[in-house]
Amino acid sequence: MMESARYSDEQTCALFRRYPGAARRLPWLPLATLPTPVEPLALDVAGVDGVRLWIKRDDQSGLPYGGNKVRKLEFLLAHARALGATRLVTAGATGSHHALATTVYGRQLGFDVTLCLFPQPLTDHVRRVLLLDHALGAELRWTPRMETIPLALFRARHAYRKERIFVVAPGGSDPIGTLGYVSAGLELAEQIEAGEAPRVEEVWVAGGTLGTAAGLAVAFALAGLETRVRAVRITSRLVANRRALRRLVAGTVRLLHAAGVPAPPPQAAIGRVRLSHEQLGDGYGRPTPQARDAAETFAAAGVVLDQTYTAKAAADFLAAAARPGSGAHLFWHTLSGVEPDAPNDPDAPDALDAPDAPDAPDAPDAPDAPRSSGASDGAGIEALPGPFRRYLGAT
Ligand SMILES: Cc1ncc(COP(=O)(O)O)c(C=O)c1O
Repeated sequence: MMESARYSDEQTCALFRRYPGAARRLPWLPLATLPTPVEPLALDVAGVDGVRLWIKRDDQSGLPYGGNKVRKLEFLLAHARALGATRLVTAGATGSHHALATTVYGRQLGFDVTLCLFPQPLTDHVRRVLLLDHALGAELRWTPRMETIPLALFRARHAYRKERIFVVAPGGSDPIGTLGYVSAGLELAEQIEAGEAPRVEEVWVAGGTLGTAAGLAVAFALAGLETRVRAVRITSRLVANRRALRRLVAGTVRLLHAAGVPAPPPQAAIGRVRLSHEQLGDGYGRPTPQARDAAETFAAAGVVLDQTYTAKAAADFLAAAARPGSGAHLFWHTLSGVEPDAPNDPDAPDALDAPDAPDAPDAPDAPDAPRSSGASDGAGIEALPGPFRRYLGAT
């Protein structure tokens, strides 16, 4: 469990720069490209005069895949390795960025990867993520609904009971994964201390399994910042709720204490998180007019958003920025700005060259958006398990 002790200050994460002793107790390995930049965000919107807007570029957090999952995986996969696991099992929606990030970095580190996936509204972006999972060598297991994930995980564990399995929590959001965002929040605190960003009043982030928001809140409390966290709920209340947040924060604080970090009482973190429920619209993965507008506004400033997560968070961010009297606000970008190439495997799906460009993740993102009709993808899709072929409309 001494994984991280050998890294220099520059190579390691902000948590261990601030608390070097914790590096000897918490397994960690470097996957991300850190620190990510923090920049002023010049948006052309009426009514935001006098408000200072900033962006934290976790879309640039890693290669070949970034976004908010990489920091969580630095702790999760180090843990899996320390336990001697050979197979990662995790769950999510068919377009889950967490599932893709686990596949990318898990395979890179030599793990086998099993994904239990439930359907979401099919878009070109979702299709591409799913086909990448497959092309990169993940085993795909279908489960009909979010509520059947526990059963799917149980079955996967049973199927591989003779192997050493590490179950990665959905979204990477258990206390171990949440450490990634404690470290991210401390990284922002370092940038504020270095004068690279102001003491922001509030940070906006898309709220799914809430590990990102929970970790940031713990970090701001640890760093003595007043900064609040607005988690914009993009999924069901079954997943994103205050009880889940409290549990995550409490577990993370316990882990930090065990590692010798003087974490504040959980309430100091929980009390600074506000869950915003206004942007969900018709549900997970279903775009809203506000999210579409926000994506356009951000695109004009060169920032690409997706309709499931980041555009909904951006819509809430813009609504708040337009209110008079607000101070410095920061949008924490959590979508990867890059996608991995599919390996050159003759059996892998060809659909990765679907007509939509990889740098425009959600341009056609609507539940009824025309499905990609890449002439070549039929052959690749044939290699998918039956329920996935039917989901993609291939049979
Ligand atoms: C792009 C993006 N943003 C935000 C989130 C939500 O993060 P969390 O699950 O930590 O709340 C996710 C989760 O999958 C995501 O893919």
